Amino acid sequence: MIDVDVSRAEKFLSEENLHQAKVTAADALKTVRQQNGEGAEWLGWRSLLDDPNDAILEQLDRLGTAIREEADVFLVCGIGGSYLGARAVIEALSPFFNQEAPEIIYVGHHMSGGYLQELIEYLDTPKVDGEPKSVYCNVISKSGTTLETALSFRKIRNWMGNTYPDSLQQRIICTTSSEGGALNKLIDEYDFQKFVIPDDVGGRFSVLTPVGLFPMAVAGIDIRSLFYGAVTEYEKLENEAEILINYAAVKYALYQKGKQMDVLTSFEPELSGLCGWLQQLLGESEGKKQKGMLPVTASYSTDLHSLGQFMQDGSRTMMETFITVQKSDTSFTVEETESNNDELNYLAGKSFHDINSKARKGTISAHTEGGVPCISVNIEVLNASQVGAFIYFYELFTAVYCYCLGVNPFTQPGVENYKKRMYKLLDK
Ligand code: PA5
Repeated sequence: MIDVDVSRAEKFLSEENLHQAKVTAADALKTVRQQNGEGAEWLGWRSLLDDPNDAILEQLDRLGTAIREEADVFLVCGIGGSYLGARAVIEALSPFFNQEAPEIIYVGHHMSGGYLQELIEYLDTPKVDGEPKSVYCNVISKSGTTLETALSFRKIRNWMGNTYPDSLQQRIICTTSSEGGALNKLIDEYDFQKFVIPDDVGGRFSVLTPVGLFPMAVAGIDIRSLFYGAVTEYEKLENEAEILINYAAVKYALYQKGKQMDVLTSFEPELSGLCGWLQQLLGESEGKKQKGMLPVTASYSTDLHSLGQFMQDGSRTMMETFITVQKSDTSFTVEETESNNDELNYLAGKSFHDINSKARKGTISAHTEGGVPCISVNIEVLNASQVGAFIYFYELFTAVYCYCLGVNPFTQPGVENYKKRMYKLLDK
């Protein structure tokens, strides 16, 4: 269950502002539920939790397990909403190399030739035992035409075609729309395996579809737990959404008061990817019609040594959101040393989780005093089910908050502008 503490942000707002914002946020939630807002045709991320499809979960899990057992390297080829969610969850739940899963490498999220060339050289290099690497690739693109992904996929497909002439068809798995787009033409040409992205689910809302779930299954994440964690959060929020309404109201009221940035941060480094996923979810959804707060990510306490001064004392244009994990499953503690020359014995016997929590609480208190409204979004423990709950919580939050702002959460017309100019320069 996701909990939110807005007490250190509310005090920057007048009762009247907060009351008005709560009315707006409650209306915005009704708009989502009644499906009568702008972009209502894109609410499939809700219906897939309302009516879970266990057969798809089973299929994703079965193929994911088979690949996990067979592959040395699994390439996830996608950009934006087609890769950020999977990456975030995999990093959150298995931050270090998992011996039982293939090495997961992300590609297709930029157009660096140097990266691609080195990647292919790496894939070509045999393993320590001299055997060639066994490589699988999941290419993910809803439109099936995104240049970064398509270009990388062409290189990888050609390399894989030369390297595995007899097994190319089973080594490439495509995730795309039911029809249309260049990727579907390639699926027909090569007879690649395919997972379908529902038409009514947009890229950044698609992590609980095969877009996110399949790479997670290959990484060994319990996708049923994750999915049903989201289902539980969905059911809970359909009955009682006061926490979410208050949170949306506070953020909206802070925006109305002139806050221009939301710094999304965590004291758990493995949550950096989730902050990145959230940055895209919020940024691409709210940044329209010259409105919205720019979501910026920071990883604490690391970035307190780079951004800490600004957060404490620079221009007061930002609010801060702390993603926290309440309970730790590690009992790692500080040991006592006889000499105490490093002067750390005052921490002896304390757990790292405890020390890190104190650093977080100290930071929130200092930043609040420095004039930054701070909100804590709390995950009880870091496991698949809670991460699933977190994902749905923020999908709904984003829709509600965007309707408060008066923008359509589900489009991204501005992204086309760079593409048009790029294609013109490329003589497309
Ligand atoms: O949220 C979005 O819609 C975007 O970030 C897309 O996911 C991203 O542009 C990739 O698009 P596609 O899946 O069509 O390749």
